[in-house]
Amino acid sequence: MSSVRKSKNAVDLTQKTFFVMTGASRGIGRTMAIECAAKMATGSVIVLIARTAAGLEETKAQILAKNPSNVTVFLITLDLTRPSAEQISSQIFDATLNERNLDEFKLAMIVHNVGSIGDVKRYAKDFCDMDEWHDYYAINVFSVIAMNTEFLKRFNTQTRRLVVNISSKLALQPCKSLTMYCSGKAAREMYFRTLALEECERDSALSILNYAPGPVQTEMTEEIETSAVEFGVREVFKGLRETKTMLQPIETTIKFLRVIESGDYESGAHIDYYDN
Ligand SMILES: NC(=O)c1ccc[n+]([C@@H]2O[C@H](COP(=O)([O-])OP(=O)(O)OC[C@H]3O[C@@H](n4cnc5c(N)ncnc54)[C@H](OP(=O)(O)O)[C@@H]3O)[C@@H](O)[C@H]2O)c1
Repeated sequence: MSSVRKSKNAVDLTQKTFFVMTGASRGIGRTMAIECAAKMATGSVIVLIARTAAGLEETKAQILAKNPSNVTVFLITLDLTRPSAEQISSQIFDATLNERNLDEFKLAMIVHNVGSIGDVKRYAKDFCDMDEWHDYYAINVFSVIAMNTEFLKRFNTQTRRLVVNISSKLALQPCKSLTMYCSGKAAREMYFRTLALEECERDSALSILNYAPGPVQTEMTEEIETSAVEFGVREVFKGLRETKTMLQPIETTIKFLRVIESGDYESGAHIDYYDN
């Protein structure tokens, strides 16, 4: 009988886990949070972050309905546009880890899902306002890096760690009307690729994944469909929705779980929903 050797990147979500999900109040982040948390063992700590308290409450309710074991869910209502290092450290990590012994967690996992589409009503040549760029990069790149740095600082032991960046095909490929989004996703993904290159070879307990979820029906894709300056882009997204070829959050979440549980990727890789 042949035995199947699990990849070193495979994670076991059924263990006692410290789990952070940003952008957890709706869309892909909500569904991924619910489905990941559904597997987690008693004593796991689940941290959900976004600006909308009601959306976070709903995600929490669905987690608790699906996971009958004794997990603790923290809701953190925080605007990630310009969080200070102090806010990240105290509101996200001190508040949820409290005085726990970090060694009690068998897995520490963070999913950087937060994302905004930026202004889609203008072409690239018309973006000249530096404050607008700063704000866009602050949410989509800088706060992600700051939070990730703090996560790795806290879990710097031999605890098994998984860092996921929710990326996009548009980190690799330009799209008319989506100037801010494409450039922000590219920068964010390159940060995680560089981090993986530097850390993962010498730290076998750390895995880093860039996951592109495919086109998914959420508020983000609705905004593109209704507001993109380029008519052809609006039509593509409208067509995907009308022909029901746009994915539902649960479809991409199922694929995501398969990827992280099999660990069938190189750390730092870009894995797309449509990859085999
Ligand atoms: N949908 C797609 O087709 C698609 C394709 C490829 C990649 N993605 C990526 O998948 C991720 C999730 O996208 P989605 O489609 O689910 O989008 P969405 O429905 O618009 O959800 C975005 C999430 O990010 C949070 N968020 C936005 N701005 C924030 C801020 N300033 N501070 C804190 N939280 C903030 C939102 O919560 P609040 O508004 O409550 O703060 C919400 O929970 C994004 O990174 C996106 O780029 C999506």
